[in-house]
Amino acid sequence: MDGSPATTLTRPALRADELHPSVTDPQAGAMNFLNEIMSQYPDAVSFGPGAPYERFFDEVDVGAYVDRFAGHLRRHRGWDEPAVRRLLFQYGPSRGVINDLLADALRRDQGLDVRPADIVVTVGCQEALLLALRVLHRRDDVLAVVDPSYVGVTGAARLLDLAMAPIPDTGAGPSPDELRRLWHEVRAGGRRLRSLYVAPDYANPSGSRMPEEARRELLRVAAELDVLVLEDSAYGFTAAGEGLPSLKALDTTGRVLHLGTFAKVCVPGARVGYLVADQPVELPGGRTGTLAELVATAKSMTTVNTSPVSQALIGGMLLAHGGSLAELGRAKAARYRANLTTLIRALRTHLGAPDPGRVSWNEPDGGFFVTMRLPVPVDDALLHVSAAEYGVLWTPMRSFHLDGGGERDLRLSCSYLTDEQIGEGVRRLAAFLADPRCH
Ligand SMILES: Cc1ncc(COP(=O)(O)O)c(C=O)c1O
Repeated sequence: MDGSPATTLTRPALRADELHPSVTDPQAGAMNFLNEIMSQYPDAVSFGPGAPYERFFDEVDVGAYVDRFAGHLRRHRGWDEPAVRRLLFQYGPSRGVINDLLADALRRDQGLDVRPADIVVTVGCQEALLLALRVLHRRDDVLAVVDPSYVGVTGAARLLDLAMAPIPDTGAGPSPDELRRLWHEVRAGGRRLRSLYVAPDYANPSGSRMPEEARRELLRVAAELDVLVLEDSAYGFTAAGEGLPSLKALDTTGRVLHLGTFAKVCVPGARVGYLVADQPVELPGGRTGTLAELVATAKSMTTVNTSPVSQALIGGMLLAHGGSLAELGRAKAARYRANLTTLIRALRTHLGAPDPGRVSWNEPDGGFFVTMRLPVPVDDALLHVSAAEYGVLWTPMRSFHLDGGGERDLRLSCSYLTDEQIGEGVRRLAAFLADPRCH
C-alpha cells in the first residue's frame, strides 16, 4: 500500500486560533477577497484596485535605467566597474544606496532640508510603515489613525500587536478636536498616544485632502500633545501645479516622519519606498544619533537591505527626470487627473448630480479614488450582485474603518483603467444602482 494518503490524513491541521490574530483578521483579508472576486469575474470592469496605469510600464527599460544609475556612480563618485558591480549585486547598507539622489529630490521638489543619512530606503512604503511603527511604539503605546484609513497601516499595526484608535476624517483630514479628546482618554487609561497616521494628499480610500491651514492646525495640536505624525505622501504627486506643502515641510518641531513610495510614480514591482526620519535620538552612552539610524537597525533584522538593483532602476528613472520626483510624476499625474475627470463626468452623465438622499459621491481633484454612499448597506453580498449580474466591481469601504463606519460606502478607483473601461464601468454601475436591491 502506498503510504502517502495515510501521511496526508494523519498530518495535523493547524488551528487558526493558535496563530497570530493579524493574519486571520477579516479586515486584513478584505484585499484578498477583492483579488479573489476579480479572478472569479474576469470580464467585470473593476473599480477595485488602486494600481498604476499599466501602459506606463511600456516605457520602462530596466537595463537602460540601471546603466544610467551606474554611469552616475562612475562619473559623480569616481567608481570603477568592480565597485559599481559590488554595489548592484552584493549585500548593501540597510539605509539604502540612492539616499543622496532622494535627499536632492526632496530638497528640490518640497524644500525639505534632509541629509541622505536621514533617509531609509525601504521595500515599498509598506515596510517604511512597519519599521516606523516598530521603532516608535512600546508595548502599551497607542497609534491614532485617520478613519477611514489605508489598510496597509492598520494591517501593519495589527501585525505588531499595537493598540489603535480611530480619528474621524472630516473630509479635510483628521479632526484635531478628536485627536485632543482621544489623547486625554488614552492618558486617563494610563497609556501614551504616541503617533498619528495621516495621508494629507488625496487619502486612500477617502480622497480627502488637507487644506494648508488644516495641516498647520494639526501640527500645532500634535506639538501641544507631543504626538509624532506619520505622513504618508503616496498621492501627493497627483496634485495639479505646485501642490500644497507637505506636513514635513511645515513641521517646525521635528515631529513628522515622512513616508513615500515609488510605486505610483515609477513601478510598484520595484518595491521601493522611503522614510525620512531626521529626529535626533539620545542614545545610551551620551551619543546623539538619528531615528533613521535606528530604523535602519530594525531594517537590518527584517529585509536586511532594499534590493540595490531595484534602487538602481529607481535611481536611473529619477536621473532621467532631472533628479526630480515632481518631474517623474508629472506625465503620470496628468493621466490620473484625466481618469478622475472622466470618472466624475461619467457619474454625472449617468446618475445626475450627487444626491445625499439617494446616491452621493465626493469629487476630489487628485488621487486615485472616489467614494460613493448608497442608501443601503454595502457588503460582500451586494458586491457579488454587482459582479455577477452587472459586471462591475468596487471595494466596500467598511474594511477601511477601525470600529465600524462606512457601512453604506464603496470606493471607486480609476487609476489603472482606460477611458473606455471607465465609461463602460460607469454605465454598468448605473444599471446596478437602479437595481431594487440598491434602494
Ligand atoms: C496610502 C498608501 N500608501 C502607500 C501605498 C504604496 O505602498 P507600497 O510602496 O508599499 O506599494 C499605497 C498603495 O496602495 C497607498 O494607498
